[in-house]
Amino acid sequence: MTDYSKLITAALEARQRAVAPYSKFQVGAALQTTDGKIISGANVESASYGLSCCAERVAIFKALTEGEQSFSALAVASAGGAAPCGACRQIIAEYAREAEIMLIDAADAKNPVFTSIDKLLPDAFTGDDLPTV
Ligand code: THU
Repeated sequence: MTDYSKLITAALEARQRAVAPYSKFQVGAALQTTDGKIISGANVESASYGLSCCAERVAIFKALTEGEQSFSALAVASAGGAAPCGACRQIIAEYAREAEIMLIDAADAKNPVFTSIDKLLPDAFTGDDLPTV
């Protein structure tokens, strides 16, 4: 079962570790695995702006490379509670499709907005669309 309050706290704490010297827009993300672990990440920016990576992808890539593959929830915290960018939506659709998504305004963390990747990225292109060889 998802521990919403723990997940929100993890996303807010991860946000504090954002490395966002250019945009100053700090984002934290926290994933809960179906067996209850929490893995978090934050955005990391580069002086070569396009190399920056969003919090959601940092968290998902961390989780995947730690051997986790099954996620029940993803919390994303930012100023204003922004929804994931298009690139992150694609990665969520491929690797965290079942996760309930919570958008958290860091200034009002007790009132997350709940959504899903099916709402954020309907008709997603995934590996299932590729022909098998
Ligand atoms: N950012 C995220 O971390 N997640 C999103 O879904 C949107 C944008 C980051 C990328 C960049 O470091 C900063 O926010 C401003 O775009």
